[in-house]
Amino acid sequence: MMDQLLLALQGLRRSRVWLSIFRREQLPQTEADWLAMNRRNFFVHILPAKIHKGSTRLSYNWIWMGVISTWLFVILTITGLFLMFYFVPSVERAYDSIKEIMNSVTLGRFMRNMHRWAANLMVFAVFLHMMRVFWTGSYQKPREFNWVIGVLLFVVTVLFAFSGYIVPWDQLGYYAAKIASNIADGVPYIGPQVKQILLGGTDLQQPSLLRWYVIHVFFLPLVIVLLIGIHFWRIRKDDYSKPVEYERGRRD
Ligand code: HEM
Repeated sequence: MMDQLLLALQGLRRSRVWLSIFRREQLPQTEADWLAMNRRNFFVHILPAKIHKGSTRLSYNWIWMGVISTWLFVILTITGLFLMFYFVPSVERAYDSIKEIMNSVTLGRFMRNMHRWAANLMVFAVFLHMMRVFWTGSYQKPREFNWVIGVLLFVVTVLFAFSGYIVPWDQLGYYAAKIASNIADGVPYIGPQVKQILLGGTDLQQPSLLRWYVIHVFFLPLVIVLLIGIHFWRIRKDDYSKPVEYERGRRD
């Protein structure tokens, strides 16, 4: 069955219709041809032409937890953009606008629930990804720099979750912000100044909500996109999750 499917696929790729679209006279014959094709193809050029077989073990990469974290971030961006059309970051309107999204807006409940589920799952997935990197020893040379970028990504992910918790301005979010700013107030010497920066004043008011909203929808996305870009660039440079025991030549 599988053989027939592959043959049919090869037939299609040799057909005149296919060749008239993709202008390829002949399928790659040698390994060098396949590698060259991978470099030339727009859709696959950012993917590796080859990866080490050790990194494909699901028990090693924990069902690609890093990739799952990336997809959750994509879902959060799409659903978050949708929510921005209806959410009003004002202390009088914030909570009611969330209720409107849940009860009156078409697809609103679905989008908000997707956003909440993906947010919780992302914290969980990033944490599991960090655990796998630790347990497989992948923080070691040559990936020390990417581990540090990863730690920053973890902090940003937690800040995302925290700021998202505050913005609906319900009892949970309001008091979470109150407790956090009071903890910040307790920091020796700079405490009051940090509290002032977090709240945009001395107490939780309109400027505090607006500040956390801007942090959630603008500042943190900017930082995470930059960090994910550096993270992926390093993954590529560091040989795409090739297990460290192969790296050191302890196995072949
Ligand atoms: C937004 C959060 C994150 C995203 C989207 C992300 C994404 C990824 C992806 C796609 C990979 C390659 C495939 C895989 O191993 O699943 C990877 C590898 C890696 N990640 Fe992350 N990651 C994140 C957070 C972290 C954290 C918190 C750490 C550690 C503190 C970390 C450290 C690493 C390291 C060292 C590698 C290379 C591992 C290896 O080559 O075996 N990452 N990451």
